[in-house]
Amino acid sequence: MTEAAVITADVQAGPEISVIVPCYNEVGNVGALVAALERALAGRRWEVIFVDDNSPDGTTAAVRAIAQRDSRVRGLCRIGRRGLSSAVIEGALSSSAQVVAVMDGDMQHDESRLGALVDAVQSGACDVAVGSRHVEGGDNSGLANAWRHALSDGGIKLAQLILPVRLGDPMSGFFALRQDTFARIAPHLSGTGFKILVDLLLSSPQPLRVQEIACGFRERLAGESKLDAVVMLQFVALLLDKVCRGWLPLRFVAFALVGLIGIGTNLLVMQAVKALGADFSMAQGIGTVVAMIVNFQLDNNFTYRDRRLRGVRCLWGLLLFMLVCSVGALANVGVADMVYNQNREFNEASVAGALIAVVWNYAMSATIIWRP
Ligand code: GDD
Ligand code: MN
Repeated sequence: MTEAAVITADVQAGPEISVIVPCYNEVGNVGALVAALERALAGRRWEVIFVDDNSPDGTTAAVRAIAQRDSRVRGLCRIGRRGLSSAVIEGALSSSAQVVAVMDGDMQHDESRLGALVDAVQSGACDVAVGSRHVEGGDNSGLANAWRHALSDGGIKLAQLILPVRLGDPMSGFFALRQDTFARIAPHLSGTGFKILVDLLLSSPQPLRVQEIACGFRERLAGESKLDAVVMLQFVALLLDKVCRGWLPLRFVAFALVGLIGIGTNLLVMQAVKALGADFSMAQGIGTVVAMIVNFQLDNNFTYRDRRLRGVRCLWGLLLFMLVCSVGALANVGVADMVYNQNREFNEASVAGALIAVVWNYAMSATIIWRP
């Protein structure tokens, strides 16, 4: 046998499918998912890449223990980064397979539909095959409660306003596409939040042919959902970022969204304090301080999630934030006054003041509080 033949005889062909599974605290599910993939993908060359964000429950250790006895299992542990979409991006870019499939790690997606998704992509029938709960034969009963159904339906309607293709289930996190298609789109992705499929469809420089394949959505096997208010805000910020086509930094969009919440908080607290008998200045003062604290918390956990301040740095950051916003409030009043004295237009003056304040607060927050 020639040298080359000996080498090829020892080397196994790589996987044709990489299943990318974003994980956070899924230690109770990874074993079950590997066994389920074994059944669902029997006869195919596949691998599964768990992308774990250094979960405190030992997910990575559990994945590594399985990987030691099964070379089709790989674990990617990320330190200091959080996020479903960015985890999927890193996992998909680490694949050398022809097709990447993305699914959740909690057994809610029906792995028996993976073959149909992969076949649809490999046959060239579509660029992206989506496991859909909202087509004939689909099922969404695994969503925990009415609130989650309302949230999912709301997200679908919002996404459908700007998606280039009509999809029944753009919220799905269960889909497959060619790895080279993913790699081509990757540089354009926002990579924030949960909705990586929406991000892909809105970021692709070329239109994508999408096919929906009916699938179920089961109860989660173990652990709990990570979807929270921050993830919802990230979804809205993702859509705004795509609508703004990048000329407004996503972070500024998020910061401005949080600012709007601050205005609402201020007004609510003012009304409540005034109802308790306080005069306008006292109500305005208390409303402003509460709004600043709420805004700081949201910015620290949402806008600057990747640079989150903790412990003493968080306290110091709050004090700095209140100082920056106080100067921003003075600038707001000053500019509004100046514009109002020029044209006696109340709304224009208020908008001008608010704009100068949000740009000042954003610039100072990004450079001195949540420094890169
Ligand atoms: N690496 C990483 N980092 N993985 C994460 C993170 C994170 O910050 N947050 C969530 N995940 C993983 C979970 O561990 C799980 O495997 C998967 O992403 C989905 O998270 P869930 O918390 O289970 O989300 P859900 O049940 O509310 O599902 C919703 O979002 C999914 C993802 O888009 C539904 O809309 C599903 O349709 C959708 O698939
Ligand atoms: Mn889930």
